[in-house]
Amino acid sequence: RREPLLAPSLLASDLANIQATAETLATAEADWLHFDVMDGRFVPNISFGLPILEALHPHARQPIDVHLMIEQPENYLAAFRAAGATNITVHYEACRHLHRVVEQIRGLGCTAGVALNPATPVSLLQDIASELDVVLIMSVNPGFGGQAFIPHTLQKVAALKELLLDTGSAALIEVDGGVSQANAGPLVEAGADVLVAGSFVFKSPGGPVATLAGLRKHLR
Ligand code: DX5
Ligand code: ZN
Repeated sequence: RREPLLAPSLLASDLANIQATAETLATAEADWLHFDVMDGRFVPNISFGLPILEALHPHARQPIDVHLMIEQPENYLAAFRAAGATNITVHYEACRHLHRVVEQIRGLGCTAGVALNPATPVSLLQDIASELDVVLIMSVNPGFGGQAFIPHTLQKVAALKELLLDTGSAALIEVDGGVSQANAGPLVEAGADVLVAGSFVFKSPGGPVATLAGLRKHLR
């Protein structure tokens, strides 16, 4: 199996010290920095947005993976690009004209991802899969860090892998929510290319650097 990319989710980090976190992660086993934006409408919680991304960006050494859990993401794509996004992922459930939104993201020079909530089947991506750089499978209901991993996600990742092969898509499969060393191996076996982890990375007793190193070693 291939080694996945690791994407620590900053939502679980010490948000009073985001510069220090970026500097700590600069030399850690982190491939992307995952940045969760919540609007209190698409999801029942509010996290952070453009000014915090702008503050983070000059200190980040890795690409910033922006996960927009917001309604009408099309209104904010250019602003997130300008603030430092490398990849922008929007929710399938938040886009009436998903194809247009994906074209807009790519037109800005970002890579484009689409996220699926736990109850949204991967088959709905059939006609857009070949246009995507990333498909993000939510393994919890979006809105909060620290929730329990939904086991059905493993079957979903496997089904998505098949759909990507069928449609000739090169999209990466990203999994987000409740990811830890307990499920990382099976997720990669099922086809996951990118693992997002918040609580597991930042709330572990060993701290983010040692936890990411341990996870990398575990997956080798
Ligand atoms: C959840 C967010 C996740 C979250 C993951 O809505 O999209 O990225 O930060 O946190 P953990 O790993 O704690 O489930
Ligand atoms: Zn996320």
